[in-house]
Parts: sequence; structure tokens; C-alpha cells
Amino acid sequence: MGGKKRPELIVALDVDRERVDKVLERLGEGQVWYKVGYRLFLQAGPEVVHYLKSRGKKVFLDLKFHDIPNTMYHAVLSSVRLGADMVNVHISAGEESLRAVRRALDEARPRPICVGVTRLTSQESDVSQVVAMAEVARSVGLDGVVCSVWEVEAVKGACGSDFITVCPGIRLAGDETGDQRRVATPQDAQRAGADYIVMGRSVLGRIF
Ligand code: C5P
Repeated sequence: MGGKKRPELIVALDVDRERVDKVLERLGEGQVWYKVGYRLFLQAGPEVVHYLKSRGKKVFLDLKFHDIPNTMYHAVLSSVRLGADMVNVHISAGEESLRAVRRALDEARPRPICVGVTRLTSQESDVSQVVAMAEVARSVGLDGVVCSVWEVEAVKGACGSDFITVCPGIRLAGDETGDQRRVATPQDAQRAGADYIVMGRSVLGRIF
């Protein structure tokens, strides 16, 4: 497929705590990355992150921080202390807040991957806005962005091929798109050169 490597799958654990074990069991050892977002984190708290780490998983803590610099700085460090391997922040929080995030990343041990949220995939496309936001993220030293598959080439063109792209809005052919607008298949994602794809309902709907 164009010689591009297969994006790494991050499964969005958008379920209640009671269902986490069944997802892990069904997806098996080979599935490494899991995303913990508001729904599960607010229900289960830090325990679920510790649990995933104890099972050898990598955790993307998807809390999309958007706040003043001091709060963003501490939120990133607290996420790392919790065990998060990947965190995200809203680029629209502004450059001063993002520079505070960068300071936290420089101090964090181990350093997590930090990506900036450009434009939610539930909104219509605006490639030039996404690229402009990605350039801000790149200039302050974030590792990459969350964007749709359809923006990956433009983002990598502007920010470099090593600038990480994490793509939600992924659907297997024939699945409901739900509230997502900029959807794509895993094959589209690989063709575009996405580094990570995030899948929630298309995976979970086959388990429950
Ligand atoms: O079920 P679905 O595959 O649409 O889930 C996508 C996941 O990715 C959800 O957990 C959603 O919160 C998250 N996400 C997103 N768009 C972003 C960032 C995260 O859809 N820009």
C-alpha cells in the first residue's frame, strides 16, 4: 500500500469500567494502545490507568487540556505521574499555554508523546485551519496533532514527515458514522501516512 507503514491502532475505551476486561480479553495481547477519555476516567479514575499499565498496555489519556499555562503545566506532569504514555492539549489554548506544556514535557520522566487537538473530527473539514494550528503546535515543540485522515498529507507537508498524526473518525466500511463528519477507513489512513488511528465504536460495536 504505497510502501507506507500501517498506522498503530489505539482503541478508545469509551465504555464503563465493568466492560474494560472484556475488551482487553477480546482484543488480546497484540493490542497495545488504549485511549482513556472523559467517560471512563470520570467513572473509574486513576485506577483504570494503573490497571491498563499493569497489563502491559500503553495509555493515551485523552483529556484535551485547555486552560491557563500554570494549570496546563501541572496537568501534563500529573498525567505522566499517573502513567500516561500519550496526552493531548487543545492548540486553541494559545501559545503561552502550549509553551508551559512544552516545559512540562521537557521535565517529565518518562517523556510522554504530546499531541495538539486541531479541529474536532465531528466538525466539517478546514484543511488550512488545521495546518495553521499544526504549525503552531510544531513551533512550540509538541510532537504532533490530532487531525482527520484527510488532513494528514497537508500537515506532514507543512510540519515534516516525523510530525506525528493521530487520527480519530475511523470507520470500517459500512459502519455508522454517528456524530463524526470527517470519517475514513483504516486503509485510507495507511495510504495517507497516519501514524496512529483511534477507533472506538467500530471496534466496541463488534464486542458488545
Ligand atoms: O467511536 P469513535 O471511533 O468515533 O471514537 C473516537 C474517539 O476519539 C472518541 O473517544 C473521541 O472522544 C475521540 N476524539 C475524536 N476527535 C478528536 C479527539 C478525540 O473523535 N479530535
